[in-house]
Amino acid sequence: MKIFDCKTNHMTNPLGFYLGTPRVSWKVSDTEGKSQKNARIYVSETPNFTQLIYDSGVSEEASSLGWEIPVKLRPYTRYYWKVAVEADNGEHGISETSWFETAKPDGPWDGQWIGYWESDTQNPVFCKDFFVDREVEDARIYVCGLGVYEVFLNGEKCGDEYLAPGCNDYNMWLQYQTYEVRLKKGENHIEASLGNGWYKSSMGFGGPDYGSDFCLILEIRKGEQLFCATDASWTVRHGDIISNSIYNGEWYAPGSGQKICAAKTVEGNGAKLMPRLSLPVRIKEKIRPKELIHTPAGEWVLDMGQNMTGFVQFVADAPKGAKIRLLHGEILQEGNFYNKNLRSAKAEYVYISDGQRRLVSPHFTYYGFRYVKIEGLSEIHLEDFTGCVLYSDLEDTGTLTTDHPKINQLISNIRRGQKSNFLDFPTDCPQRDERMGWTCDAQVFLNTACFNMDSYAFYSKYLWDMAMTQKEVGCVTEIIPAFGENTPACSAWGDAATIMPWNLYLFYGDKTILQQQYECMKQWADYEFSQDEKDGGSRLWKLKKGFGDWLAMDHDDPKEMFLGATDLTYISTAYYYYSTMIVAQTARILGNQAAYDLYFTRACEIKDAFTKEYVTASGRLAINTQTAYILALYMGLLPDNAVEQNADALEAKLLSNNGYLNTGFLGTAYICQVLSAAGKDEAAYRLLFNEGTPSWLYGVNLGATTVWERWNSLNPDGSISSEGMNSFNHYAYGSVMEWMYRYMAGINPAAESPGFKKAVLTPRPNFRLKSVEASLNSPAGIYTVGWHMETDKTIRLRVQVPFDCEARLILPFSNGREELLRAGSYEFHYKAIKPLGEPPEIDGPFNRLKECIPVRPLLDKYFAGWQNIPRFHGQDSLARL
Ligand code: BGC
Repeated sequence: MKIFDCKTNHMTNPLGFYLGTPRVSWKVSDTEGKSQKNARIYVSETPNFTQLIYDSGVSEEASSLGWEIPVKLRPYTRYYWKVAVEADNGEHGISETSWFETAKPDGPWDGQWIGYWESDTQNPVFCKDFFVDREVEDARIYVCGLGVYEVFLNGEKCGDEYLAPGCNDYNMWLQYQTYEVRLKKGENHIEASLGNGWYKSSMGFGGPDYGSDFCLILEIRKGEQLFCATDASWTVRHGDIISNSIYNGEWYAPGSGQKICAAKTVEGNGAKLMPRLSLPVRIKEKIRPKELIHTPAGEWVLDMGQNMTGFVQFVADAPKGAKIRLLHGEILQEGNFYNKNLRSAKAEYVYISDGQRRLVSPHFTYYGFRYVKIEGLSEIHLEDFTGCVLYSDLEDTGTLTTDHPKINQLISNIRRGQKSNFLDFPTDCPQRDERMGWTCDAQVFLNTACFNMDSYAFYSKYLWDMAMTQKEVGCVTEIIPAFGENTPACSAWGDAATIMPWNLYLFYGDKTILQQQYECMKQWADYEFSQDEKDGGSRLWKLKKGFGDWLAMDHDDPKEMFLGATDLTYISTAYYYYSTMIVAQTARILGNQAAYDLYFTRACEIKDAFTKEYVTASGRLAINTQTAYILALYMGLLPDNAVEQNADALEAKLLSNNGYLNTGFLGTAYICQVLSAAGKDEAAYRLLFNEGTPSWLYGVNLGATTVWERWNSLNPDGSISSEGMNSFNHYAYGSVMEWMYRYMAGINPAAESPGFKKAVLTPRPNFRLKSVEASLNSPAGIYTVGWHMETDKTIRLRVQVPFDCEARLILPFSNGREELLRAGSYEFHYKAIKPLGEPPEIDGPFNRLKECIPVRPLLDKYFAGWQNIPRFHGQDSLARL
């Protein structure tokens, strides 16, 4: 028996994080046993467990999804833990030792905030020499620096993270980090180098910065013993980074720093310091540039081969005074470097040589880019450049591959989109003068993100910040942190407050996120209610201004194009219902019956009002857009007897649009799922395989390596469709990957069992693919599903169900056949009820045209190869000619 993925609060061996009551979790493999009979958790302050501070005893309740350690934790302490598991067949296993370490106690620090702002330095470096009378192997540095900081002890950087302390609502809370360090006997030298970061850069739409002054607080200690702390005895000098900001990049001139003077003690910004929640941002991948391009305009441009977030590191070897400049862009235009879509973000890196050869890279900024224009180097050697991909330290959990190269490329693009926008908080895009935590983008992508990577801890920090912002501003804002955009969010954006924690709970089966967010969730639902009440209490949310179905393609009026055609009151009321119902369910799970009754009754009233306003007596929806059908179906807003007819109406609506979607951020997230849920897999697959615009493969065909903000970010000839708001690395439309996991591969947690202890496996093969292989290292263990079409009527299916889990395998293509599977590996051969290797018959105009003999010469002339085009594809392609 192997016990793996032992985590505390969904992190491996967290050092200095805020832990609350810690919850440990584990997974089991390599056993003949099927389920866990019992488990026993041991916690000790010593790695050899000589003295236990907690022993759960042999417990049949101890769930591997999360078990609280009910111990009052001491500060500055590393707790070691392990778990012993007994399986139903009597097999035993014991895990390796894991640990979690607490940070400082609440309360005042020995260190004082120190600062320096008399000159206009962009990079103060605070320094101190201190003496230690013995070597200390395992000291700790506790530190927070604003804007962002790096700490060096005896010339070596502490830790390997970037852009600490991360980005959050700095008015409300500050995160400090903990580093494990070794102190020398004798003199030690500590330095903290600060840059502007999010705190001091002008972010967003010109709102005020969070702060205007650099400041630092730091302690070096081992438990109660203090070796060094910030105070007025520290000195400060100008560092060599002569300018830096998140959007504009960095200028570095080694040797330019000067002037040493005393630091001053200051107030800090007044917000509460607390142990970190942010995962460290690290260089998670290194890539070599693919090519050096000499463009028609005569520029030298590196092609990294993929869009990415991070920076380029390079060997600088230039004469003293030489200025090397790197500019970052996402696409080429007419073969030349292009970066106008970054708007005001300069996204440059400038190095002014002191004549020394050295490896250089930025410290306090990052870029979203594929191409790097290089100026100021007389010779460029590709091998001198390395792409460093930065994102928060998350583990991959899901894999998905098909036999179709374009779909695989799309999958890879979606993953890269996630990595590119998971730099401490979920951003809309990583390149232009925005890079902000837009709530709707985060909300629609969350499930995909959780399939791809273990995202619980990452989102939990974002949601904590949302709750903080809500406390500060009085409402959920459209962007978290708000960067001064303090107006209340509109529908779908603000509903992130309920949808995100709820979906995290369903995926991970950990109620803590609901407890953490409950107040924030309730306040959002109450805010919606208050807006409705102000407007007469109709139980419709008549929102006047919002982002609608952002970037949908179904509005006739080009001025309204961004918002799509779906009525705003309709959208808002749908989300008002959905959020209220989520709050009701959350109250039930948290054992609050009175709140459940209140929100449930309110949700029913909203649904009634919605039905009266938007559903005709015969069950037809009064708002006739794709997104209107999708939201009503997905959110359960329709009377039971109207579900099928509206799913049919959605399908018909798609067909009348040549089988194409025209949805924006909202409709797109659910479109394939509602189709499949209604048994219309073929329609969902058709959308996935469409190649015209709007479709996912349109971008793939034009060489995309990440997901674009707009369906038509590029025109078919490769020219950019517009400059003002056009990113090539926006993950929102990547939300379709959730459907791929849930339906194409068919992996779902069972509704009654959040966290995948029970799963529903319901793969949906389709003639467009020969095989799909998926695996998910779920919170409960590793599921795999692989299907392979052996003939057009036989499917080979391989399934793996993890230990202590159970799966219902449901096979719609084989007459709805069902199997109940316990832990183990299975292989089946199924006969389909009808051939799977062919497209279904569709009575579309092209199919009729093909039958029409007099038209054939014309088709030959204008539509070469028409005979080979499968029936539906033909209809589709013709419509796009
Ligand atoms: C962002 C989005 C965001 C939107 C709000 C854009 O500028 O990039 O992705 O959700 O504004 O409408």
